[in-house]
Amino acid sequence: MAQDWTEEPHPATDLRPEIPHPARIYNYFLGGKDNFPADRAAAEKVIAVAPQTPGAAKANRAFLQRAVRFVADQGIDQFLDIGTGIPTAGNTHEVAQQVAPQARVVYIDNDPIVLAHARALMAGPGHGATSVIQADLRDPAEILADPRVREALDFDRPIALMLVAVLHFVDEEQDPYGIVATLLDALAPGSYLILSHATADFDPPARAEAGKEIYRKATAQVSPRTREQLERLVAGLELAEPGLVVLPKWRPESAEAAEVWAPGYAAVGRKK
Ligand SMILES: C[S@@+](CC[C@H](N)C(=O)[O-])C[C@H]1O[C@@H](n2cnc3c(N)ncnc32)[C@H](O)[C@@H]1O
Repeated sequence: MAQDWTEEPHPATDLRPEIPHPARIYNYFLGGKDNFPADRAAAEKVIAVAPQTPGAAKANRAFLQRAVRFVADQGIDQFLDIGTGIPTAGNTHEVAQQVAPQARVVYIDNDPIVLAHARALMAGPGHGATSVIQADLRDPAEILADPRVREALDFDRPIALMLVAVLHFVDEEQDPYGIVATLLDALAPGSYLILSHATADFDPPARAEAGKEIYRKATAQVSPRTREQLERLVAGLELAEPGLVVLPKWRPESAEAAEVWAPGYAAVGRKK
């Protein structure tokens, strides 16, 4: 008999199709097909509470691409993309390698379905120096010590650390501030942090609670953060213009794109 995922709070990330997984829910929002009925049901519940969510997911993806292009234009050719998600169009290595063909990218995610799809994609030719590793953001020391990460990236040179729509899956008790500090400490001066993060600053409390509740039985829970909390996360970095802003307003491609509803903040900061 299929297991009833509603019986199990905070299940571990695994391929189990009966439990909603953030990577597969996000894939559904982006219009992808790499998701199961439980993921689609959870995604539809989110859409019922916040109908513009698929547009917000696409706006987040567009931010990722603009930010990767921006740091590549600054001369960055190494990327540590944690919480990378199921591959879709315009992945980090594709955008980065358009600017810098030699760009090296390490993709990290804790969801095995992401790893399966990413490895299948990278198995073909034309993906440059790209590797895919299963690891957990909540154990940054393990990521930094991983010999595959050390082999792929030169920590004596600047690296772009990407935490795009992933840190809100780390709750306050798990110390997101310490995790970011540990990762940034390991990077050379001139490295960048590319950050996007969900917020409930613009939501009525009931909607924010409803959104959190839907993820409560998923493999990761959502912790939206306030602008003040995110300012603390990026404190000490030199923020590229326009600073920490509502996500679609970070260097938008058009006036129309800047007005998309996306309840998140974004910033790109340089380590001094
Ligand atoms: C909303 S998706 C974002 C994907 C991509 N970064 C983007 O913005 O398009 C979040 C991703 O983070 C991954 N994730 C969640 N918690 C994680 C953790 N503790 N460690 C590593 N990856 C995690 C999920 O599996 C999922 O693939």
